[in-house]
Amino acid sequence: MSFAVDWLDLREDADNAARDSDLRDTAVTFIAAQRDPLVVDLGAGTGSTMRALKTAKAKWRLIDNDPALLAEAERRGGTIETVEMDLTRVEAIPLDGSSLVTASALFDLASRAWIDALADRLAASRIGIYAALSYDGILQWELADADDDAARDAFNADQRTVKGFGPALGPDGASHLAEAMKIRGYAVNVAPSPWRLGAAEAALQRSLLGGIAEAAARSGMANADEWLARRLQSAETARCTVGHLDVLALPS
Ligand SMILES: C[S@@+](CC[C@H](N)C(=O)[O-])C[C@H]1O[C@@H](n2cnc3c(N)ncnc32)[C@H](O)[C@@H]1O
Repeated sequence: MSFAVDWLDLREDADNAARDSDLRDTAVTFIAAQRDPLVVDLGAGTGSTMRALKTAKAKWRLIDNDPALLAEAERRGGTIETVEMDLTRVEAIPLDGSSLVTASALFDLASRAWIDALADRLAASRIGIYAALSYDGILQWELADADDDAARDAFNADQRTVKGFGPALGPDGASHLAEAMKIRGYAVNVAPSPWRLGAAEAALQRSLLGGIAEAAARSGMANADEWLARRLQSAETARCTVGHLDVLALPS
């Protein structure tokens, strides 16, 4: 899957507002307690996670398969190393020297097998993981439309198709990561990090609605276009909640 810089920029403020602050602060404290810390960010995009954790003084290794996004991350600055690679090659992910792996908006794309393989690699070197903002299946509008549930169900079904890592766990990605780390002896905390979008985020809502309708149509929702048209009409005023989960798993 490819992601546009514009879309990642559009969501960054909403992501920052949504991140669970306790988990983010605990991740920052964990980084600060390491000697010469190196953080490896998976599916880094333009470096949103690094910016969200900027209070932690660390070296960052940003990994993504999209060279344009990595070039943009470099252009935006910071002392970073970038690695262009396909993360499906779990055994080849360069984790050497790191104490924490991070990710945002990634684990809903991942499959069970990929998460288990990554968990094995992290556990083998007792590396922690902070995975924020994985979509959890909740999509709600304050003023309901008769087809909201159908759109959500069709969108969630599409979320479980292949997104580049084998069959995606979609809304169950974060909870599977939490379980995988728990059974490997980690101290695991999970917290909700929903987007709560209002008029100020109308542009994000419009873009999101387009993506939901496209995915819902792929999953067989016959009237996705009509639902989208009605929802777009009220995007300036409608309030919408998009559920996410943050997971922090630290070696105990
Ligand atoms: C939803 S975006 C999130 C980007 C960034 N973490 C953020 O929060 O802004 C998912 C990112 O994962 C990357 N990605 C998806 N599949 C990948 C793969 N197989 N290997 C490496 N990167 C991948 C995409 O290029 C994209 O940058």
